[in-house]
Amino acid sequence: MSASADGRRDRLRAMLADLKMPGALEAVDGVLAQLDSGAVTAGEALERLLGAQITLRNNRRLETAMRASRLPAVKTLKEFDFAFQPSIKREQIESLHELGFLARKENVVLLGPPGVGKTHLAISLALAAAESGRRVYYGTLASLVESLEQARAAGQLARRLRVLTHPALLLVDEIGYLPVSRDGAVLFFQLINARHEQASTVLTSNKGFEEWGAVLGDEVMAAALIDRLLHHCHIVNIRGNSYRMRAHQDLWRSMQRADGDASPALGRGT
Ligand SMILES: Nc1ncnc2c1ncn2[C@@H]1O[C@H](COP(=O)(O)OP(=O)(O)O)[C@@H](O)[C@H]1O
Ligand SMILES: [Mg+2]
Repeated sequence: MSASADGRRDRLRAMLADLKMPGALEAVDGVLAQLDSGAVTAGEALERLLGAQITLRNNRRLETAMRASRLPAVKTLKEFDFAFQPSIKREQIESLHELGFLARKENVVLLGPPGVGKTHLAISLALAAAESGRRVYYGTLASLVESLEQARAAGQLARRLRVLTHPALLLVDEIGYLPVSRDGAVLFFQLINARHEQASTVLTSNKGFEEWGAVLGDEVMAAALIDRLLHHCHIVNIRGNSYRMRAHQDLWRSMQRADGDASPALGRGT
């Protein structure tokens, strides 16, 4: 490389540092080398340089959003095995991942027994929303109610309700595993009421709607809550076997096979 090319590279590096573009700074040497060797045109080189910066910025945004959202795990649509869960309409799930429901402030309720992938699909929707730059927030029903109760005790209920109304997507997980006090259910109702037609809520439950009255300790309030939720809502009803149990069953079968090989005297399978 000539002295003037060296000088230009150093100046470019200084400019990118000055502009606080670490992604482009990291890519600039490689891009210049590609340019010098004739592997890319000037236009392509610019595209790669700026593309590197945008990728880094998007990854950082997503990381920040992930930390703020409190999502308990990373689960994506790609990792979801539709063949295992034939009751799920694949087109419905894929079209939800296009996120039109967020713009329309519609809700999503995923219903089904434990282990069928409700939380997985709800998280993958939340991730898609975070990737698109939207604010998302995760809580189990129990933890959300607890945080509302604490806020009320501290005289901060209105503020907490505002904070929880802000995210474009609120994921309320695990409705039905732990019963909620009637008082807690009133707070949850206030939250859903505040979000109604303002922003989308994605909920999961192992209990059908007819059992929510028992979960929330009040039939009338549960009916009012369900009425709000279902007003603009996509329902994903999953009838099927637990994916967790499938893993156990595979393990159990392989243990039985190993066992059978090692100790034929037990006479298993005869
Ligand atoms: N169809 C599926 N394909 C791939 N992984 C799945 C599938 N269904 C469930 N899982 C995985 O099995 C575990 C249990 O699923 P989860 O979504 O937590 O169930 P639920 O919330 O319905 O109880 C999770 O680790 C999840 O990623
Ligand atoms: Mg779950």
